[in-house]
Amino acid sequence: MTAKRTIFLCGLLWLGCGQDLQDRDTEPTDVATPAAPPEGPAPIVQQPATGAANAAAIELGRLLFFDPVLSGDRDISCSTCHHPAFAWGDGRRLSVGTGGTGLGPARVASSTSPHVTTRNSMTVLNVGLNGVTARDRGPDPATAPMFWDHRVRSLETQAAQPILALDEMRGSRFTEDTIFPEVEGRLRAVPDYVTRFSAAFGAQPISRDTITRAIASFERTLVERDSSFDRNALTAQQQRGRDEFARHGCPGCHNGPMFSDYRLHRLGVSGLTTGVRAPSLRGVTKTGPYMHDGSLPNLDAVLQFYGRVDRRLDPALGGVRGFSPTEAADLKAFLEALSDGAFETTVPSSLPSGLPVGGVTR
Ligand code: HEC
Ligand code: HEC
Repeated sequence: MTAKRTIFLCGLLWLGCGQDLQDRDTEPTDVATPAAPPEGPAPIVQQPATGAANAAAIELGRLLFFDPVLSGDRDISCSTCHHPAFAWGDGRRLSVGTGGTGLGPARVASSTSPHVTTRNSMTVLNVGLNGVTARDRGPDPATAPMFWDHRVRSLETQAAQPILALDEMRGSRFTEDTIFPEVEGRLRAVPDYVTRFSAAFGAQPISRDTITRAIASFERTLVERDSSFDRNALTAQQQRGRDEFARHGCPGCHNGPMFSDYRLHRLGVSGLTTGVRAPSLRGVTKTGPYMHDGSLPNLDAVLQFYGRVDRRLDPALGGVRGFSPTEAADLKAFLEALSDGAFETTVPSSLPSGLPVGGVTR
């Protein structure tokens, strides 16, 4: 590759290039030089090997996502912890599962059998782009990393986990072995769902497989589009923030089109000694509280954290340093430019099951 071509590509891929240079351990002095933001199309969601979903599957997945019929006690849905009003997260430090009432920060756990998650709910916005990096703009959806610790791969496999999880949707009336047969039976008894499943999947039965494929199809449509960053419309302050982002070593992990390398890193948040994903920073101003346990309430707290992080914990932390108040303001302005795009916010007005949309919300 000629030098000119390399420079052109670096401009195109921007932050990802810095990472390449760092990985090869050559020309390290170039890493901190911020180039122009990437031009060209925003990343595209890849479809699974079963093919692109039809409109019927996407709409079916949307209804299932909001339908508490998938939970053991018919009181909680995916949308309870991933709601458009909270940028498809729940705006909470930790999530309240089955038995709780209310939505978002106002949600409270049952006093008799409280079910609370140990991790902060991740937004499902842009989740169809998990794994997209500067090096791999079209990763295989079958291996797309899921959860803070990447313990599950693919949206389809992920979608079964909250239904199986005692503290999220299963509750104590069913076991991991009985919950899916129960849910399948409930859906087969709703004529509107029967019609919708055959429109989406033809002769394939209502099963864990088709339920999770429909949900995954819907999730792949949840993409934030046309942020100021994508439109190449940064203000002067946001441009300063972008340069500071690079100068402070953030692209060591938050790089590529999603501002994530989709690798596990050790930052020692709340004393955690294992690695968690460097989350995407797209949409980040809307998805607080922050970190795997929601322990940092706002972006100021996150930036202060980076000022005192133990840089020996992770090789990619080497270039990280703290922010002055002015730099912090610029950086937050830049993060806003990654977060001001448009995304789906509609909620179904009713469900085929006839249950309240989203479950018990008040
Ligand atoms: C009780 C709250 C709760 C419910 C209900 C819930 N989730 Fe989640 N979700 C979470 C939490 C907490 C995490 C992060 C868990 C972890 O990493 O250990 C998460 C993570 C995810 C992720 C991973 C995102 C990423 O970038 O890796 C996806 C996708 C997801 N949930 C989809 C769903 C779907 C689909 C449903 C319904 C079938 C659902 N969730 C129901 C709380 C919930
Ligand atoms: C060594 C890799 C690495 C570097 C370098 C790094 N981060 Fe992170 N970042 C992470 C990881 C890992 C997390 C999640 C940590 C956790 O949850 O315990 C995170 C979390 C965040 C979050 C919270 C996102 C959320 O959804 O909770 C923000 C904001 C953030 N980083 C911004 C920055 C900024 C700004 C810099 C530069 C000063 C930076 N990061 C440098 C790996 C990194």
